[in-house]
Amino acid sequence: MSTVLDTRTDAAGDRVADGDDRVEQAPEDTGIQSFLVTFNIRRFDPEVDDEPRWVDYDVELYSTDRVLDALHKIKWEVDGTLTFRRSCAHGICGSDAMRINGRNRLACKTLIKDLDISQPIYVEAIKGLPLEKDLVVDMEPFFASYREIKPFLMASSTPEPGKERIQSIANREIFDDTTKCILCAACTSSCPVFWTDGQYFGPAAIVNAHRFIFDSRDDAGDVRLDILNDKEGVWRCRTTFNCTEACPRGIEVTKAIAEVKQALLRA
Ligand code: SF4
Ligand code: FES
Repeated sequence: MSTVLDTRTDAAGDRVADGDDRVEQAPEDTGIQSFLVTFNIRRFDPEVDDEPRWVDYDVELYSTDRVLDALHKIKWEVDGTLTFRRSCAHGICGSDAMRINGRNRLACKTLIKDLDISQPIYVEAIKGLPLEKDLVVDMEPFFASYREIKPFLMASSTPEPGKERIQSIANREIFDDTTKCILCAACTSSCPVFWTDGQYFGPAAIVNAHRFIFDSRDDAGDVRLDILNDKEGVWRCRTTFNCTEACPRGIEVTKAIAEVKQALLRA
């Protein structure tokens, strides 16, 4: 079997599967049982539609396929205009967060065998960010909040030439969890506070601030705490745990937010 996939990148550098993708694919007889699965996808084409509309697709899949495989099949075999983001297909790049049966997940990490295929599977774009087309939202407001918390090491001294900035294992462990973020926005776009007006920094920005606030090599924790003490900062968190449940990396997002709140109270 040979597969040719032609994709383009968007402004954020993520690959966007649009109407130009092409595939050459020969059917493969694996002898493994396949199932007909119905997908109900919320489609929106800003050039044609006033409102998003739900469209049904029946797709032949194996239980080991993922939702991303189903989207590819629909795009390549049924309707080439179906638009969604993806890149790595292995849970690393964070491009393909979407709402699957009402829960934020990565399409590439959601196996068909873990879904109830006796019912249609509902797929729609993540909430709280401007919808651009089908499953693609404008991520700029999300990345603007991320940039605002200064997600880079700010140290007041430089190490001696040829030396590293030494950190103990115990100090590294303090922020180990929040280093795992892949900026998929599943947490922020599952947060009811973020949905209300989109002004709240959101869980992902706080997670990435946590990663540096608690890094013993960084000297600008107070700068970030000041930023998050803003009226749109950590105090808007209502501890609903949606973010923790949505995170595909298993990051304890709500705990990280609580630790930032505690650091602010100690400051
Ligand atoms: S904290 Fe988890 S859900 Fe939120 S952006 Fe990072 S990886 Fe995605
Ligand atoms: S395509 Fe990269 S995380 Fe799913």
